[in-house]
Amino acid sequence: MTSWLQRLAGRRARRPEFFPRGPLSVEADFAPALARSLARFQLGETGDGSHLLAAAAKLGDADRVELLRRFLDEEHDHARWLGRAVEALGGQRLERHWSASAFRLVRRLGGVETELIVLMAAELLGATYYRALARHVRDPQLRGLLGQIARDEGVHIALHVDWQRRHLHQLGPVRRALFRVGFHAFFRAVCVMVMLDHRAVLRRCGGLRSYWRASGDLLARVTAAQLRPCRLTGRALLRFRHLAVETA
Ligand SMILES: [Fe+2]
Ligand SMILES: [Fe+2]
Repeated sequence: MTSWLQRLAGRRARRPEFFPRGPLSVEADFAPALARSLARFQLGETGDGSHLLAAAAKLGDADRVELLRRFLDEEHDHARWLGRAVEALGGQRLERHWSASAFRLVRRLGGVETELIVLMAAELLGATYYRALARHVRDPQLRGLLGQIARDEGVHIALHVDWQRRHLHQLGPVRRALFRVGFHAFFRAVCVMVMLDHRAVLRRCGGLRSYWRASGDLLARVTAAQLRPCRLTGRALLRFRHLAVETA
Protein backbone atom coordinates (compact mmCIF):
# COMPACT_ATOMS: atom_id res chain seq x y z
CA MET A 1 0.00 0.00 0.00
CA THR A 2 2.87 2.35 0.88
CA SER A 3 4.43 1.91 -2.55
CA TRP A 4 1.14 2.96 -4.13
CA LEU A 5 1.08 6.02 -1.86
CA GLN A 6 4.63 6.89 -2.92
CA ARG A 7 3.79 6.31 -6.56
CA LEU A 8 0.75 8.60 -6.51
CA ALA A 9 2.64 11.24 -4.51
CA GLY A 10 5.44 11.18 -7.11
CA ARG A 11 2.91 11.55 -9.92
CA ARG A 12 1.29 14.52 -8.17
CA ALA A 13 4.61 16.38 -8.06
CA ARG A 14 5.12 16.23 -11.83
CA ARG A 15 1.56 16.53 -13.08
CA PRO A 16 0.85 18.81 -16.05
CA GLU A 17 -2.07 21.24 -15.99
CA PHE A 18 -4.38 21.64 -18.96
CA PHE A 19 -5.35 25.14 -20.06
CA PRO A 20 -6.54 25.34 -23.66
CA ARG A 21 -4.58 28.02 -25.46
CA GLY A 22 -6.99 29.39 -28.02
CA PRO A 23 -9.84 27.52 -29.70
CA LEU A 24 -9.54 23.78 -30.23
CA SER A 25 -9.46 22.76 -33.88
CA VAL A 26 -12.24 20.21 -34.14
CA GLU A 27 -14.48 19.83 -37.20
CA ALA A 28 -17.56 22.08 -36.92
CA ASP A 29 -19.92 19.14 -37.48
CA PHE A 30 -18.20 17.15 -34.70
CA ALA A 31 -17.51 19.75 -31.97
CA PRO A 32 -21.08 19.93 -30.50
CA ALA A 33 -21.38 16.12 -30.18
CA LEU A 34 -17.85 15.90 -28.74
CA ALA A 35 -18.59 18.65 -26.18
CA ARG A 36 -21.82 16.90 -25.10
CA SER A 37 -20.06 13.57 -24.75
CA LEU A 38 -17.09 14.99 -22.82
CA ALA A 39 -19.48 16.91 -20.54
CA ARG A 40 -21.08 13.59 -19.50
CA PHE A 41 -17.70 12.06 -18.73
CA GLN A 42 -16.70 15.28 -16.94
CA LEU A 43 -19.70 14.92 -14.62
CA GLY A 44 -18.70 11.33 -13.88
CA GLU A 45 -15.26 12.54 -12.74
CA THR A 46 -16.59 15.12 -10.26
CA GLY A 47 -17.85 13.07 -7.28
CA ASP A 48 -16.37 14.11 -3.93
CA GLY A 49 -15.95 10.47 -2.91
CA SER A 50 -17.40 11.06 0.55
CA HIS A 51 -19.33 7.75 0.51
CA LEU A 52 -16.25 5.83 -0.63
CA LEU A 53 -13.98 7.51 1.93
CA ALA A 54 -16.48 6.90 4.75
CA ALA A 55 -16.80 3.21 3.77
CA ALA A 56 -12.98 2.86 3.66
CA ALA A 57 -12.62 4.64 7.03
CA LYS A 58 -14.99 2.08 8.58
CA LEU A 59 -12.48 -0.64 7.64
CA GLY A 60 -9.95 1.15 9.87
CA ASP A 61 -7.30 1.20 7.14
CA ALA A 62 -5.72 4.67 7.23
CA ASP A 63 -3.37 3.94 4.29
CA ARG A 64 -6.28 2.98 2.09
CA VAL A 65 -8.16 6.16 3.01
CA GLU A 66 -5.10 8.25 2.13
CA LEU A 67 -4.64 6.35 -1.11
CA LEU A 68 -8.28 6.90 -2.05
CA ARG A 69 -7.86 10.63 -1.37
CA ARG A 70 -4.93 10.79 -3.79
CA PHE A 71 -6.80 8.73 -6.37
CA LEU A 72 -9.77 11.12 -6.07
CA ASP A 73 -7.41 14.10 -6.52
CA GLU A 74 -6.45 12.69 -9.92
CA GLU A 75 -10.11 12.19 -10.88
CA HIS A 76 -10.77 15.80 -9.91
CA ASP A 77 -7.91 16.87 -12.19
CA HIS A 78 -9.75 15.08 -15.00
CA ALA A 79 -12.99 16.86 -14.12
CA ARG A 80 -11.26 20.26 -14.14
CA TRP A 81 -9.41 19.64 -17.42
CA LEU A 82 -12.46 18.19 -19.18
CA GLY A 83 -14.61 21.09 -18.00
CA ARG A 84 -12.19 23.52 -19.69
CA ALA A 85 -12.17 21.39 -22.86
CA VAL A 86 -16.00 21.32 -22.97
CA GLU A 87 -16.10 25.12 -22.72
CA ALA A 88 -13.32 25.54 -25.31
CA LEU A 89 -15.43 23.42 -27.67
CA GLY A 90 -18.37 25.78 -27.14
CA GLY A 91 -20.32 23.34 -24.96
CA GLN A 92 -21.64 23.58 -21.43
CA ARG A 93 -20.79 21.66 -18.28
CA LEU A 94 -23.61 19.51 -16.95
CA GLU A 95 -24.97 19.61 -13.42
CA ARG A 96 -26.73 16.28 -13.74
CA HIS A 97 -27.20 13.44 -16.19
CA TRP A 98 -29.00 10.13 -15.82
CA SER A 99 -25.80 8.11 -16.42
CA ALA A 100 -23.92 9.77 -13.53
CA SER A 101 -26.96 9.38 -11.25
CA ALA A 102 -27.31 5.67 -12.16
CA PHE A 103 -23.62 5.05 -11.44
CA ARG A 104 -23.84 6.83 -8.10
CA LEU A 105 -26.90 4.81 -7.13
CA VAL A 106 -25.32 1.43 -7.93
CA ARG A 107 -22.04 2.39 -6.22
CA ARG A 108 -23.89 3.07 -2.99
CA LEU A 109 -25.78 -0.21 -2.88
CA GLY A 110 -23.01 -1.99 -0.97
CA GLY A 111 -19.80 -1.39 0.95
CA VAL A 112 -16.41 -0.22 -0.21
CA GLU A 113 -15.77 -3.40 -2.24
CA THR A 114 -18.99 -2.95 -4.26
CA GLU A 115 -18.09 0.65 -4.85
CA LEU A 116 -14.62 -0.31 -6.06
CA ILE A 117 -16.07 -2.91 -8.45
CA VAL A 118 -18.35 -0.29 -9.98
CA LEU A 119 -15.44 2.13 -10.17
CA MET A 120 -13.35 -0.53 -11.90
CA ALA A 121 -16.00 -0.89 -14.64
CA ALA A 122 -16.02 2.90 -15.00
CA GLU A 123 -12.22 3.02 -15.21
CA LEU A 124 -12.06 0.32 -17.91
CA LEU A 125 -14.80 1.88 -20.02
CA GLY A 126 -13.43 5.39 -19.46
CA ALA A 127 -9.87 4.37 -20.39
CA THR A 128 -11.15 2.74 -23.60
CA TYR A 129 -13.19 5.85 -24.44
CA TYR A 130 -10.36 8.35 -23.80
CA ARG A 131 -7.90 6.19 -25.71
CA ALA A 132 -10.24 5.92 -28.75
CA LEU A 133 -10.73 9.69 -28.77
CA ALA A 134 -7.03 10.46 -28.29
CA ARG A 135 -6.26 8.34 -31.34
CA HIS A 136 -8.76 10.12 -33.57
CA VAL A 137 -8.97 13.80 -32.64
CA ARG A 138 -6.52 15.95 -34.59
CA ASP A 139 -6.17 18.93 -32.26
CA PRO A 140 -2.81 18.49 -30.48
CA GLN A 141 -3.96 20.04 -27.18
CA LEU A 142 -7.04 17.85 -26.99
CA ARG A 143 -5.03 14.82 -28.03
CA GLY A 144 -2.52 15.54 -25.26
CA LEU A 145 -5.28 15.97 -22.68
CA LEU A 146 -7.09 12.76 -23.64
CA GLY A 147 -3.81 10.84 -23.75
CA GLN A 148 -2.89 12.07 -20.25
CA ILE A 149 -6.30 11.04 -18.87
CA ALA A 150 -6.05 7.64 -20.58
CA ARG A 151 -2.60 7.11 -19.00
CA ASP A 152 -3.95 8.11 -15.58
CA GLU A 153 -6.86 5.68 -15.94
CA GLY A 154 -4.32 2.97 -16.79
CA VAL A 155 -2.61 3.58 -13.44
CA HIS A 156 -5.98 3.61 -11.63
CA ILE A 157 -6.88 0.28 -13.25
CA ALA A 158 -3.63 -1.22 -11.95
CA LEU A 159 -4.45 0.11 -8.47
CA HIS A 160 -7.97 -1.37 -8.57
CA VAL A 161 -6.61 -4.69 -9.86
CA ASP A 162 -4.19 -4.82 -6.94
CA TRP A 163 -7.01 -4.21 -4.43
CA GLN A 164 -9.42 -6.65 -6.03
CA ARG A 165 -6.76 -9.33 -6.42
CA ARG A 166 -6.24 -9.40 -2.65
CA HIS A 167 -9.98 -9.51 -2.07
CA LEU A 168 -10.54 -12.29 -4.63
CA HIS A 169 -7.88 -14.52 -3.11
CA GLN A 170 -9.75 -14.47 0.19
CA LEU A 171 -12.82 -15.95 -1.50
CA GLY A 172 -13.41 -19.63 -2.23
CA PRO A 173 -13.45 -20.84 -5.87
CA VAL A 174 -17.26 -20.77 -6.15
CA ARG A 175 -17.61 -17.20 -4.86
CA ARG A 176 -14.69 -16.16 -7.03
CA ALA A 177 -16.36 -17.63 -10.12
CA LEU A 178 -19.66 -15.93 -9.18
CA PHE A 179 -17.81 -12.64 -8.77
CA ARG A 180 -16.30 -13.00 -12.26
CA VAL A 181 -19.64 -13.82 -13.90
CA GLY A 182 -21.37 -10.96 -12.06
CA PHE A 183 -18.62 -8.48 -12.89
CA HIS A 184 -18.56 -9.44 -16.58
CA ALA A 185 -22.37 -9.15 -16.86
CA PHE A 186 -22.33 -5.76 -15.10
CA PHE A 187 -19.42 -4.56 -17.22
CA ARG A 188 -21.07 -5.50 -20.51
CA ALA A 189 -24.40 -3.94 -19.46
CA VAL A 190 -22.62 -0.65 -18.68
CA CYS A 191 -20.59 -0.95 -21.90
CA VAL A 192 -23.82 -1.08 -23.95
CA MET A 193 -25.10 1.94 -22.01
CA VAL A 194 -21.89 3.91 -22.81
CA MET A 195 -22.03 2.89 -26.48
CA LEU A 196 -25.63 4.07 -26.81
CA ASP A 197 -25.04 7.29 -24.91
CA HIS A 198 -21.84 8.22 -26.79
CA ARG A 199 -22.52 6.60 -30.15
CA ALA A 200 -22.18 9.82 -32.16
CA VAL A 201 -18.61 10.33 -30.90
CA LEU A 202 -17.57 6.67 -30.87
CA ARG A 203 -18.68 6.26 -34.51
CA ARG A 204 -16.27 9.04 -35.45
CA CYS A 205 -13.49 7.59 -33.29
CA GLY A 206 -13.00 4.05 -34.52
CA GLY A 207 -16.59 2.77 -34.44
CA LEU A 208 -18.82 1.00 -31.95
CA ARG A 209 -17.53 -2.46 -32.79
CA SER A 210 -13.96 -1.36 -32.13
CA TYR A 211 -15.00 0.13 -28.76
CA TRP A 212 -16.71 -3.15 -27.80
CA ARG A 213 -13.66 -5.15 -28.77
CA ALA A 214 -11.09 -2.84 -27.12
CA SER A 215 -13.03 -2.71 -23.84
CA GLY A 216 -13.37 -6.52 -23.91
CA ASP A 217 -9.61 -6.89 -24.44
CA LEU A 218 -8.93 -4.65 -21.45
CA LEU A 219 -11.42 -6.62 -19.34
CA ALA A 220 -9.71 -9.89 -20.29
CA ARG A 221 -6.29 -8.54 -19.27
CA VAL A 222 -7.67 -7.23 -15.99
CA THR A 223 -9.36 -10.56 -15.24
CA ALA A 224 -6.09 -12.42 -15.88
CA ALA A 225 -4.17 -10.02 -13.62
CA GLN A 226 -6.80 -10.31 -10.86
CA LEU A 227 -6.36 -14.06 -10.72
CA ARG A 228 -2.59 -13.91 -10.51
CA PRO A 229 -1.56 -14.89 -6.97
CA CYS A 230 1.59 -12.75 -6.84
CA ARG A 231 1.84 -9.07 -6.01
CA LEU A 232 1.26 -6.70 -8.88
CA THR A 233 4.76 -5.64 -9.85
CA GLY A 234 6.02 -2.46 -11.43
CA ARG A 235 6.19 -4.35 -14.73
CA ALA A 236 2.52 -5.29 -14.54
CA LEU A 237 1.69 -1.69 -13.74
CA LEU A 238 3.59 -0.59 -16.82
CA ARG A 239 1.59 -3.05 -18.90
CA PHE A 240 -1.66 -1.28 -17.95
CA ARG A 241 -0.09 2.10 -18.54
CA HIS A 242 1.06 0.85 -21.92
CA LEU A 243 -2.53 -0.06 -22.80
CA ALA A 244 -3.57 3.48 -22.17
CA VAL A 245 -0.51 5.04 -23.72
CA GLU A 246 -0.99 3.55 -27.18
CA THR A 247 -2.57 6.73 -28.43
CA ALA A 248 0.09 8.14 -30.70
FE1 LIG B 1 -10.83 9.81 -14.47
FE1 LIG C 1 -9.70 6.92 -12.91
